[in-house]
Amino acid sequence: MPPSRAAITAVHGYLPPDLLTNSELAQLVDTSDAWITERTGIKERHILKGEGLGTSHMAAEAVRGLLEKTHTKPEDIDLLICATTTPDMQFPSTANLICDMVGVRNIGSFDVQAACSGFLYALTIASQFIANGTCRKIVVVGADKMSSIIDYTDRATCVLFGDGAGAVLLEPSESGDGIMDALIRSDGAGMIHLHQKAGGSRMPPTQDTLDKRLHYVHQEGAAVYKFAIARMAEVANEIMSRNNLRADMINWLVPHQANKRIIESTAERMGLPMSRVMVTIHKYGNTTNATIPLCLWDYESILARGDRMILAAFGGGFTWAGVYVQWAYDGAKRAANGGARSNGKNG
Ligand code: ACO
Repeated sequence: MPPSRAAITAVHGYLPPDLLTNSELAQLVDTSDAWITERTGIKERHILKGEGLGTSHMAAEAVRGLLEKTHTKPEDIDLLICATTTPDMQFPSTANLICDMVGVRNIGSFDVQAACSGFLYALTIASQFIANGTCRKIVVVGADKMSSIIDYTDRATCVLFGDGAGAVLLEPSESGDGIMDALIRSDGAGMIHLHQKAGGSRMPPTQDTLDKRLHYVHQEGAAVYKFAIARMAEVANEIMSRNNLRADMINWLVPHQANKRIIESTAERMGLPMSRVMVTIHKYGNTTNATIPLCLWDYESILARGDRMILAAFGGGFTWAGVYVQWAYDGAKRAANGGARSNGKNG
């Protein structure tokens, strides 16, 4: 049997209702709406509030919506992969918890940890299970409650992140469209610039780690910025060149949303105008593993079957990844049937 190509056949997202605006952040730390807007492109982000609600809550909302809109029964799902950097607990995996919450039982489920590149790592892994014929319906969900590991006294990081979840359904392609190629990369020497010091096995939690605020994201922004710009463009250009794609053949760049300036620079180095770049950072901030599926959800209603996209991400590790997708369905038709989000790129 020839290998099957995996196609994204639906996408859904979830954003918690509470907003945190730049003006509100300016009351917490020494910053301003002008600085955040100019240096990052972010205006507001969603924050998950509510006792006992973790990443799984948002992921389960996104997955429930995905199953509903595709009329998929929980028992038809063969595998569920969750990409997250903010798991509910060290164990069990957040994927296990999501399965329980949405009523999916007795299937394989696991988490993927690759910081902001995790969703593309998970998509790449999932596509192999479709290609080798082991699975026919896979849910890949990227979700993060970044507000749970952000220090809201540190102006260098607290303005950047938001909470959210996005999920896709992956099935064997019927048309030949789908995930055409993927590259995943990492360099552990980058750890020093972006990590969470305490809470893992190297430095378990103690009163001292709490007092020193070591359970929050530590980021050397300028160093990460330099790597992000170089690596995002490099992986995007490599995947274009090995698939003989010129810039004029690409309908969409779907970049990880860490900083508007990184997105613009990646597009420029690929030779793409910003009109062909998905941008949601102004309203969601950096939702880590959710940025790329949330972009696809936001733009779903204007996507056409056959649209060529380069998905590109960069994150802690360092990790980075690029995926070449030919979109497998018409979003406008789905929107007309009530199965796609209708706000599109201006929402
Ligand atoms: N408000 C006002 N001033 C600020 C703020 C703020 N919120 N944050 C930093 N500054 C100040 C700094 O203190 C510094 O002041 P100084 O010159 O007096 O020391 C000045 O602004 C410049 O600081 P930089 O860090 O050089 O600012 P930069 O222009 O690089 O922007 C930013 C910072 C937005 C963090 C940027 O470096 C960035 O986007 N980095 C990459 C982020 C990224 O891609 N992360 C990877 C994914 S995340 C993940 O994997 C979990």
